[in-house]
Amino acid sequence: MNNCIAYVNGEYCKAEDAKISIFDRGFLMGDAVYEVSAVIKGCLIDNEPHLDRLFRSLGELNMPSPANRAEIIRIQKEVISRNQLDNGEVYLQITRGSGPRDFLIKEDMQPNLVMFPLFFDPLNADNRGIAVQTLPDIRWLRRDIKTTQLLAQSLARSIAAHHGFDDAWMVDSEGYVTEGSANNAYIVKGDRIFTRYANNEILNGITRRTMFGIIKEMGLTVVEQAFTPREAILADEAFITSAGNWATPVVNIDGEMIGNGQAGAVTLELRRRYITALEQLSSE
Ligand code: PDD
Repeated sequence: MNNCIAYVNGEYCKAEDAKISIFDRGFLMGDAVYEVSAVIKGCLIDNEPHLDRLFRSLGELNMPSPANRAEIIRIQKEVISRNQLDNGEVYLQITRGSGPRDFLIKEDMQPNLVMFPLFFDPLNADNRGIAVQTLPDIRWLRRDIKTTQLLAQSLARSIAAHHGFDDAWMVDSEGYVTEGSANNAYIVKGDRIFTRYANNEILNGITRRTMFGIIKEMGLTVVEQAFTPREAILADEAFITSAGNWATPVVNIDGEMIGNGQAGAVTLELRRRYITALEQLSSE
């Protein structure tokens, strides 16, 4: 990780030499937004909607961007090229910048822009399916903004990992699944695919939106309706989506198998079709 080339406010440097002030509000208060775009064969995947969401997140927080859209794309590509990133992801983060620790947001704060690559091969993923543990969703109520306030998700995934699970599904106070720690959650029942409606209670995934098109192409129906862990255990299949993981089967919830505990055919077909669509989704 430390060997990569990072971008920080106009400079490319070794990640270990990259620096941000200790007074940065991203560091002190989680006052920062981020995006993660997948990269396949050196090309960004579905990047335009990721940038739309980035500018929406900034707008919702009234945070200025230190770079315009074209500049951000140019830097993303430069990060890919300087790191010879073939398959993986580009992480980008904008923080509001530094100021006195008085909790006040001031207009003259200078935002920071940071990017770095994440190396892994999404095409080489293990698709046997993952086991998830359900845990209470203890996050704030603007989960539609992609901020770096990820402590609740990080705790949830770590607790799940400690108990031998691969990930956590977070559950609201009424007993409905909101989403995974860093992904959207779905169940399959016959020819209907259920996933929670996108309001302030979940992040509206870019992969989710693209997957809706693929689901319809397959002649299946998307139902934007919340479901409980019990409904998920009794469903035909369950899966998650996110950038770089696309559709990953969920085969076990809280220790109970879904169906026969094998990755579901619908999920695997969605994944296959997403991979087939990669060329259409990629930007050089
Ligand atoms: N996470 N929900 C949450 C809470 C997320 O953090 C993410 C993405 C998603 C899926 O969004 P998308 O399809 O746009 O990637 C849903 C990224 C990958 C991360 O934090 O690494």
